[in-house]
Amino acid sequence: MEKKYLFSPGPTMLPPEVLLKMAGPIMHHREPEFEKIFSEIREGLKYLFQTKKEVLVFTSSGTGAMEGAVSNLLSRGDKALVVRGGKFGERWGEICKAYGIEFVPIDVEWGESVDLKQIQKVLESDRSIRAVYTQASETSTGVRHPVKEMAEIVKKHEDTVLVVDAITGIGVFDLPMDRWGLDVVICGSQKAMMLPPGLSFAALNDKAWAFVERSNLPKFYFDFKKELKNTLKNQSSYTPAISLFVGLQESLRLIRQEGLEAVFQRHEKLAAATRAAVKALGLELYAPDSPTNALTAVKVPAGIDGIKLQNLFFEKFGITVAEGQDRAKGKIIRIAHLGYYERLDMIMVISALEMLLKEMGYAFELGKGVKAAEEILMR
Ligand SMILES: Cc1ncc(COP(=O)(O)O)c(C=O)c1O
Repeated sequence: MEKKYLFSPGPTMLPPEVLLKMAGPIMHHREPEFEKIFSEIREGLKYLFQTKKEVLVFTSSGTGAMEGAVSNLLSRGDKALVVRGGKFGERWGEICKAYGIEFVPIDVEWGESVDLKQIQKVLESDRSIRAVYTQASETSTGVRHPVKEMAEIVKKHEDTVLVVDAITGIGVFDLPMDRWGLDVVICGSQKAMMLPPGLSFAALNDKAWAFVERSNLPKFYFDFKKELKNTLKNQSSYTPAISLFVGLQESLRLIRQEGLEAVFQRHEKLAAATRAAVKALGLELYAPDSPTNALTAVKVPAGIDGIKLQNLFFEKFGITVAEGQDRAKGKIIRIAHLGYYERLDMIMVISALEMLLKEMGYAFELGKGVKAAEEILMR
């Protein structure tokens, strides 16, 4: 018998309620029925992003909205600051490069969070920087960056906006966009939003919309002004991924039913249990000082082949965990706990980790990780 489980930080496992809704017959996106769904989605997204502003929805993976946050905010000759502490931080730089935007990188050691003083220093010494691009949660390293504090720094610069890739942050931990003054927040559907890949999201405050007004970089599909105009009419500019919108209506309903605070607490607990479990096995966290609650990046112990371990998860148990990317390849595995995950899901993946490590010859006491997790999960 074969059963499969996703423990990758996107795509993630989906609630049956969402799957069932998406399995219904397709409707037309210019019908009143779809407009009603769209209208409900707009309200649900404002709740999830903790904003009064509209949240734009694009039919694309998360990178689409990231690209839009460069092409719609900046103008030719503008300069950016990019927090580069992993694969996704690097992506901000690659997008800037594609649009001919010069950027100052702040290179952060993988596994560490950004040093706020460096951001402050760069912004104060170079007044031509118009946007700071960062992640709230850097999925490739398992790090959480201090975006609240970054917003406080950027707020002092009238002509600079903070753009937060919260693709593995939204619906995982508290990121109150309006309260913290995050100028732009980006998300993607296949993470804590409990949907398949295929939708990206961008929310902008008034400061950021003023940047959009004067932006002269080329744009077509990801045209924020055009999308906003249509959003206000409960329409999308082009044919949307209709089934995903229907699923989104349901996943937003589920999130509201649980309540944002409870959602954050659940993620906090699952993350704490996973971290405690791997430490109890004598393993080290890749991001010990500032771990995100979206996933746990674990260093593969000496003498164990990390790629083989990741493969065995799937071969023996049908479990997909993520491997390390680039310089972390073979050195870490990443266990996700964002979205539709509950206490016993973590027990399962930790138990599988124990059985595999035992089989691979790593010395530890079987059950120690599960016990450490249980102790936290019972609280
Ligand atoms: C933090 C972060 N940013 C950006 C992306 C890219 O999103 P996508 O693969 O949906 O384009 C991901 C996806 O894993 C992510 O985790």
